[in-house]
Amino acid sequence: MPIFEEGARRGMGKMENVEKQARMASQFIDTIPSEAWLNRHVMIAFTTMMLVAEAYGLDTAPMEGFYPEAVKREFGLPSNAAVIALLALGFMKEPDKPYGGRLALEEFVFEENYSTPWKQG
Ligand SMILES: Cc1cc2nc3c(=O)[nH]c(=O)nc-3n(C[C@H](O)[C@H](O)[C@H](O)COP(=O)(O)O)c2cc1C
Repeated sequence: MPIFEEGARRGMGKMENVEKQARMASQFIDTIPSEAWLNRHVMIAFTTMMLVAEAYGLDTAPMEGFYPEAVKREFGLPSNAAVIALLALGFMKEPDKPYGGRLALEEFVFEENYSTPWKQG
């Protein structure tokens, strides 16, 4: 609700429609498995944090191997919180581990449809 109110204050929609907007958004979200929805949205923020941190010269390390209950205890999170991933930010202690490589973009990027691999250049 507060985010729709913020939108209305900024001229995106009207304050009298906020309740309806929130209800419609919530109905839509209810059609998506909550774990998938949470992961998608958290990972957008997460990836953006990684890019910005790296642009400022920091190093980052995403982690999904942790005990959620222990993380919640350590950081005082409410019991109903879901911990999606952790992101370590800091300055890397040399030496870095060897670069493990990445698949060629042509292997997982496609033009218009799945049968046309994207070609660089
Ligand atoms: C979503 C995600 C979760 C990860 N979780 C862990 C983890 O729990 N423990 C770990 O050692 N590496 C984990 N990794 C891998 C490293 O954080 C890192 O991405 C990997 O070492 C490759 O480093 P590079 O991206 O600099 O090549 C994870 C990577 C991703 C993308």
